[in-house]
Amino acid sequence: MGVRTAWAAASGLVLVLFLIVHLGGVALAPLDPAAFETYAAALHGAAWLPVAELGLLAVALSHAGLSLAKAIANRRAGNGAALVSRRADALGALAARSQAMGGVTLLAFLVVHLLQLRWSRPAAGEELAALHSVLAQPASLLLYLAAATAVALHLFHGSEAAHRSLGLLDPANGSRIRAAGRALALLVGGGFAAVAVLVALP
Ligand code: HEM
Repeated sequence: MGVRTAWAAASGLVLVLFLIVHLGGVALAPLDPAAFETYAAALHGAAWLPVAELGLLAVALSHAGLSLAKAIANRRAGNGAALVSRRADALGALAARSQAMGGVTLLAFLVVHLLQLRWSRPAAGEELAALHSVLAQPASLLLYLAAATAVALHLFHGSEAAHRSLGLLDPANGSRIRAAGRALALLVGGGFAAVAVLVALP
């Protein structure tokens, strides 16, 4: 296995960890608004945050770059990734085929997302109001639901692919890793979709 493939897989796993933490944070918004404001204020006051953000940016850009380069090389080599569809696994096949498109969709979503919520950071105590005003716009809500779907599909395939790339998949644990990865994908995608809808409600 090349070092690039290993890094594409390892960086993907780091991004999943970020997504789980991020979902945990934003889930507070509809569940416990006061705790959400306290959490957001504490996070924004943390001295380590800019370092973590730069690290995350580097991981995300290298993940996108390496994975796309790999997808293009595979396509050139005539690898149509038709392996999964033979097993009558329609969702798995769709997830595998849409991996590159899904990644690009997520990148496009992130540009809008960061412009909306990161570059114009609201004052302490106004985080939830800012979130609501973004998600109450139907076009924004649609975009967030599309991103949640893309996250679910991307992780549905990516979690298994990452374990395979890192050499962690074997016949004994394969089906458990696949099931756990897929459950996580549906949980994270469904979680973001639910939070977006709940925050959008008046
Ligand atoms: C219901 C869905 C979501 C909500 C309500 C939400 C909310 C937010 C908010 C409020 C911020 C600003 C944080 C800050 O000012 O420090 C943020 C940042 C961010 N979000 Fe989301 N987000 C959602 C979904 C997503 C998804 C699906 C992804 C990735 C695919 C994502 C990736 C990011 C990233 C990378 C940042 C920048 C982190 C940072 O600078 O600290 N978000 N999000």
